[in-house]
Amino acid sequence: MDENSVAADPIVQLGAWLEEARTAGQPLPEAMTVATASADGEPAARMVLLRGLDHRGVVFFTDRSSAKGRDLSENPKAAVVFHWLVPRHRQVRLMGPVETVSDAESDAYWASRPVGARRSAIASHQSEVIPDRKSLEEQVSELARTFPAEADLQRPVRWGGYRIVPHTVELWEEQPDRLHDRLRYRRRGDGHWLIERLAP
Ligand SMILES: Cc1cc2nc3c(=O)[nH]c(=O)nc-3n(C[C@H](O)[C@H](O)[C@H](O)COP(=O)(O)O)c2cc1C
Repeated sequence: MDENSVAADPIVQLGAWLEEARTAGQPLPEAMTVATASADGEPAARMVLLRGLDHRGVVFFTDRSSAKGRDLSENPKAAVVFHWLVPRHRQVRLMGPVETVSDAESDAYWASRPVGARRSAIASHQSEVIPDRKSLEEQVSELARTFPAEADLQRPVRWGGYRIVPHTVELWEEQPDRLHDRLRYRRRGDGHWLIERLAP
């Protein structure tokens, strides 16, 4: 891997590697770790699923009242890591500011979710302490009784998407003798990307 063999735009390169991982049979290639930090600098990381990828950045959906949502409201920056074992052992890291996606985008993704997943999202106030699993299941059953029609399961305002808008993206690919390849893209003022090689 070198500066001339990768795309000039790291989002294009991420899309290509993601597709290669999917085609090669990597389970859940769209799984990514998202790290956030609270206003006082306490870091936290968790897996989410990539649900949107375009020139604007990477999108995932969640409960904005969750722990990660609180971090992002205090400190709207994140770091993301993808990791795949096939067809090559690769990692992609992204860093940058985070914005909330539009209501229209969140609505569109909400509408694509199966009914059961919508009920679960409504019943679950993510990251809050709950007494037990039974009480959660009862709330889901209650929703099924109260709102049997799919159209009644509206997106809660607390549920929606975040977009990480990367200013830095790094590609890592395993090489023999642990002399791995690392290429870092940094967004320049004119919108183009500067590609630099980093020591492994
Ligand atoms: C593979 C995988 C994918 C996940 N995808 C999501 C996701 O897309 N959105 C989400 O809110 N949580 C997702 N989760 C759950 C999160 O890892 C986490 O438990 C939850 O979002 C609460 O995180 P928080 O307390 O830091 O806010 C996923 C977990 C795994 C293991």
